Amino acid sequence: MSRVLVLNGPNLGSLGRREPEVYGTATLADIEQMLRDRATRYAIDIRFEQSNHEGALIDILEEERDRADACILNGGALTHTSIALLDAVRGFAKPVVEVHLSNIHAREPFRHTSLTASAARGIIAGLGPHGYVLALDALARLLGASDTTGGAA
Ligand code: DQA
Repeated sequence: MSRVLVLNGPNLGSLGRREPEVYGTATLADIEQMLRDRATRYAIDIRFEQSNHEGALIDILEEERDRADACILNGGALTHTSIALLDAVRGFAKPVVEVHLSNIHAREPFRHTSLTASAARGIIAGLGPHGYVLALDALARLLGASDTTGGAA
């Protein structure tokens, strides 16, 4: 069974209440449920985490280095600022798909640069919560996890 770490950075715990015109009304718990439902079809085990603290996110990446097979990362604002998170993603050394609910390239210029993206296998931005599901589909394919429903990943 493959294991995927889903890591969410600062302020993502407030989804649903936070700027709904930008991020929509789904909560992080809703996103977790969507992912868990999807993961069942691939028999993928999910660890789902959120922290507002850079060091805590780095600790989890270190902790999962020898456990998880891949990661879905929404680093929130740390995406644009944190060399430390970039180094941790590099150290994780497994496929990472970076996800953003909003299209960071259509927003303020300071959001156009992602420091962590250079260590990611792929990036999905602007598709809301569905982006997380697409990231899981992509990772399932990369990990060779077969779709138990018989559908194509
Ligand atoms: C975000 C985009 C970031 O710029 C922002 O700081 C976030 C959320 C997104 O999912 O669209 O917190 O990562």
